[in-house]
Amino acid sequence: MKIETPFDLGAWSAAHLDRVERALERWVTAEAPAGVDHGAPAELVEAMRYAVLDGGKRLRPLLVMAAWEAVSGETAMAGHDEAALRAGHCEAALRAACAVELIHAYSLVHDDMPCMDNDVLRRGKPTVHVKFGEASALLAGDALQALAFELLTPEMDEMPAAQQARLCRLLARAAGSAGMAGGQAIDLASVGVALSESQLRDMHRLKTGALLQASVMMGAACGDAPNVAQAALGRYGAAIGLAFQVVDDILDVTADSATLGKTAGKDASQDKPTYVSVLGLERSAAHAQELLGQALAALAQSGLRHTEALQGLAEMVVNRSC
Ligand code: IPE
Ligand code: IPE
Ligand code: MG
Ligand code: MG
Ligand code: MG
Repeated sequence: MKIETPFDLGAWSAAHLDRVERALERWVTAEAPAGVDHGAPAELVEAMRYAVLDGGKRLRPLLVMAAWEAVSGETAMAGHDEAALRAGHCEAALRAACAVELIHAYSLVHDDMPCMDNDVLRRGKPTVHVKFGEASALLAGDALQALAFELLTPEMDEMPAAQQARLCRLLARAAGSAGMAGGQAIDLASVGVALSESQLRDMHRLKTGALLQASVMMGAACGDAPNVAQAALGRYGAAIGLAFQVVDDILDVTADSATLGKTAGKDASQDKPTYVSVLGLERSAAHAQELLGQALAALAQSGLRHTEALQGLAEMVVNRSC
């Protein structure tokens, strides 16, 4: 008799994060890549490493890995050679996971700058511009963004050109004017403005949701997901992407700076419209649970059998305390 062991999200995350951390450590470096005769200025790379390493929940890389596992496990079951499949696509998933974290880290560096949210604390440390100066923070963000796309376009056979292009397209869309950067522009233009719930939802979908949804879709793009599964994963990503920022808005009010590793109470002090300011705490929390329900329903409709990690991450997004 086969005994099913319950899925352990903590152990699953630790195993994947170990690989992601080691890869980030290796890729965010001053060392010149093969074939290039000059490295990068040490101080710029120091600021980049400070922004990326030793901190953060790494939710986006975990979503890439979980989505890739969900679709590759499925394909393996459909008769492919599982070992070959995993060896071939693992590198793509690892690169996608790191690339999305680099874009996220860059967005935080710029988000914290005096021209944006003017924050001094991030991931429990002084923000990059406080430590290295504004010009270095700006350039570290720029360089992290460029590095993300470099990671997605390696000179190696394991990642076919079409897959590289698809991953770049998904990430570029999510990071650009119709994604994170666009959402950040709306955020800055909305200070002191009473947004409707639907305007707020649109802003949150762009500034935060797009990159989280892209993490899921990039993981799926590292495997061979049938269309119905891809569409379901898109709905899952949209639901948790929005839920993530709803909870971020809630935690800004309910948690303290030590727990968050960033300054609590910033949204109200800067007069930013948030789910809490528009719906109140109780309805915001209820909405986050509703979005969790939508995410789990999408997984159930995906036809994928290995969705335990995606399920656990969705629950973590909504029920987290930091
Ligand atoms: C913070 O993101 C910024 C938002 C998009 C709300 P995270 O809460 O994922 O930050 P880290 O990566 O864990 O520091
Ligand atoms: C930032 O949203 C979203 C990004 C694109 C970085 P917030 O401004 O609410 O993020 P925190 O609260 O500073 O992490
Ligand atoms: Mg902000
Ligand atoms: Mg901020
Ligand atoms: Mg916030």
